[in-house]
Amino acid sequence: MSESTLFGRDTELARLAVFLDGGEAVLLEGEPGVGKSALLAATARRAETCGMKVLRASGSEFEADISYAALNQLLLPLYARLAELAADQHRRDVDS
Ligand SMILES: Nc1ncnc2c1ncn2[C@@H]1O[C@H](COP(=O)(O)OP(=O)(O)OP(=O)(O)O)[C@@H](O)[C@H]1O
Ligand SMILES: [Mg+2]
Repeated sequence: MSESTLFGRDTELARLAVFLDGGEAVLLEGEPGVGKSALLAATARRAETCGMKVLRASGSEFEADISYAALNQLLLPLYARLAELAADQHRRDVDS
């Protein structure tokens, strides 16, 4: 069994694949330990295999009062590629 094998989740994986195909947002909820993160990880792998860039952020209580905490998490992995932004204005916007 590979590390990524998920049992009994064909329906959920198919729905998440539809989301990857053009969905705007999806809310995945379930009981603690039921396999939400595993489904998201499998979906992220599928997206990356399809050539998509996957950006991640997770909410945590201690960051609740920090402005742009989620945005920072999402964009930090792209920081090294800042110089590739074509327009100077775009570069300044992201860098500020
Ligand atoms: N369908 C599945 N087949 C095999 N293993 C699974 C499956 N779903 C989850 N697991 C395994 O069960 C464990 C718990 O799954 P996971 O961490 O994804 O749950 P979760 O819903 O995100 O939990 P939490 O509510 O704590 O965030 C992990 O070790 C995961 O690999
Ligand atoms: Mg989880």
